[in-house]
Amino acid sequence: MHTIIEPFRIKMTEPIHLTTAEERVEKLAAAHNNVFLLDADDVIIDLLTDSGTGAMSTKQWAALMMGDESYAGSKSWKNFRNTVHNITGMKHIFPTHQGRAAESLLALTRVKPGHVIPNNSHFDTTRANLEFAGALALNLLPEDALDPAKELPFKGNMDIGKLEQVIEQYGVEHIPFCMITVTNNTGGGQPVSMENIRQVKAVLSRHKIPLVIDACRFAENAYFIREREPGYKGKPLLEIAQELFSYADAATMSLKKDGLANIGGFFVCQNDEWAEDFKNALILREGFPTYGGLAGRDLEVTAVGLMEALEYDYQVYRHATVEYLIQKLIAAGIPVMRPGGGHAVFLDAKAFLPHIPPLQYPGISLVNALYLEGGIRAVELGTVMFGKYDENGQEQPSPLELVRLAFPRRVYTQSHFDYLYEIILQVWEKRDQLKGYTITKQPQFLRHFSCWFENM
Ligand code: F0G
Repeated sequence: MHTIIEPFRIKMTEPIHLTTAEERVEKLAAAHNNVFLLDADDVIIDLLTDSGTGAMSTKQWAALMMGDESYAGSKSWKNFRNTVHNITGMKHIFPTHQGRAAESLLALTRVKPGHVIPNNSHFDTTRANLEFAGALALNLLPEDALDPAKELPFKGNMDIGKLEQVIEQYGVEHIPFCMITVTNNTGGGQPVSMENIRQVKAVLSRHKIPLVIDACRFAENAYFIREREPGYKGKPLLEIAQELFSYADAATMSLKKDGLANIGGFFVCQNDEWAEDFKNALILREGFPTYGGLAGRDLEVTAVGLMEALEYDYQVYRHATVEYLIQKLIAAGIPVMRPGGGHAVFLDAKAFLPHIPPLQYPGISLVNALYLEGGIRAVELGTVMFGKYDENGQEQPSPLELVRLAFPRRVYTQSHFDYLYEIILQVWEKRDQLKGYTITKQPQFLRHFSCWFENM
């Protein structure tokens, strides 16, 4: 049997507004050429993010009705806590309204100016929260992982040599914790192997540095471990996830990804002092520790969603959607980050548009071309998102210029992907005509969300 089908039927539909090419020219100009500023209704296929955009199951909708909205100690909190405890094994569990709230409170309670936080790659909100607290956020991927064309099974692995070097260079006293992001979103949604997590943990243990897992896509990572890592074949994803968390001292999570929910997050940890500090900060900013910025119904929905994300058949289907698109793109010679990520296909904008220099943002040019051509909304993960300014005020390009097509969970069908492929192909055929962009207005942090662009 070769056809992998969606392991669900559709009970409810949501109409898509089919815009014309003329309308899209107008809409993009009104959005200052930044697709974040478009109205969602003007997008045909929205691949801006896989975060909070998934479709809930019948079990989740039913669970939503069971939401206990008591302020303190609700039944929904207990369901949530038991599920998160079952998966992570952590002693202390705190809901937050989304992932970045967990990151921000972690930074607030544990990070001081002058600290250094290594990661395989920090996500943009993680980096921003750590930098806002005065820390230096370092990405420690091996060189191989920065080559989009290289096929490696665990391209999200942290470079152990670089980690040892960073500890030696900055000193243990400046490293309050080390993070590892599973899967590594900004590096192409690439997985981290269990072996790598064990090695990272071994190095950190020698120096008594805690390990914090950024667990947004832990279930997708568990699936990759099962399929690709020796010793895990046929293992239930729950067991793989439990082992993964067993090496961590704490974790932050956006439940908008592998919680299969539209909102939510958590922070979990083993250390009592960390928990006490986090709890106090949580009460001040998010809410009482048994709801942490969420409604009781959200806690119910995520408790169900977390377990559904660990269903093997669901992950087989999810991975098949990525493979379906990426294999077509590879066959057409279109440059992509290889192998396919867990939640997205990443186009390599540097290779797609070699005539546009990094500081003219080839990723933005490609993102905007996809919108104009077919109403596809993608996101740049390149110099606009990750570029920095050096001490002389010179903008420094990002090592990778990627355009992410992130797949909402259980939302689009195969014909949507066929359409997507056709649009990418059409843009590929006219790539020589695409031009770069300049930024005309930008904020200090997380500029990609709101900056304005002008075509060159
Ligand atoms: N960490 C990673 C690896 C993420 O991908 C995200 C969010 C966060 C943390 C923050 O979680 O959005 O719930 O506050 N990523 C989304 C994305 C936004 O599009 O990749 P959040």
